[in-house]
Amino acid sequence: MSNNTAKMIVAIDGPSASGKSTVSREAAKNLKIMYVDSGALYRGMTWKAVREGVDVKDAEAVIGLMNETNWDFFIEDLVLKFTIDDEDPTDHLRSEPVRERVADIAVIPEVRVFMVDRLRETADFGDLVMEGRDIGSVVFPDATFKYYLDADPEERARRRHKELLATEGKGDVEQVMSSLKRRDTIDSTRKTAPLQIPLGAKVINTTGMTIEEVVDQIVDEVDAYRTRV
Ligand code: DC
Repeated sequence: MSNNTAKMIVAIDGPSASGKSTVSREAAKNLKIMYVDSGALYRGMTWKAVREGVDVKDAEAVIGLMNETNWDFFIEDLVLKFTIDDEDPTDHLRSEPVRERVADIAVIPEVRVFMVDRLRETADFGDLVMEGRDIGSVVFPDATFKYYLDADPEERARRRHKELLATEGKGDVEQVMSSLKRRDTIDSTRKTAPLQIPLGAKVINTTGMTIEEVVDQIVDEVDAYRTRV
């Protein structure tokens, strides 16, 4: 495991469409530190499984494939990126086949151990904002800052629907709502590292707040700390 004791780590957890991705990316940009989207690693593994024709419900096959993969991490414009077996999966991470299967990949304990190790190693690059489901609870329980962003289910469905319209030109609110609920259930009831409010995390309910308001709150708190140390 990497030695990250001297690094400033801002952990941001929360359910899908809680606003945490946009907030985390913007906060990192404002703070001029690296942004890490931990879900991208789970999505990357899912992309690889789909590509290789491996059934994501077949944990043994997924683990076998995972153990043969080679991951390389690098930073581009202060954003953590990676390749799997020399291929950059970025453009495929939000595709429908990945979106529908990633929660099944994320329940496999061996996959979580692998990803947690990779995520901890990213602190070797420097100070960072990392978003996910278990960052303040499992990946970096001693993070300098821990936030848990939430929003009412209707608000989350509306946001995700808007995103889908922008990226895919279509989307059905009801379907978005049931897909979110399905993923929430899998994420919060899985045995290993279920979605939970990490001990000591500050909860921000972003319903009715603008992205800027949430970002400003986090950036102000982190900046106040940085000027003190
Ligand atoms: O944040 P996201 O929508 O990209 O996450 C994709 C999936 O990965 C989702 O089902 C939750 C899971 N995930 C996780 O279990 N732990 C993380 N730290 C990040 C994501």
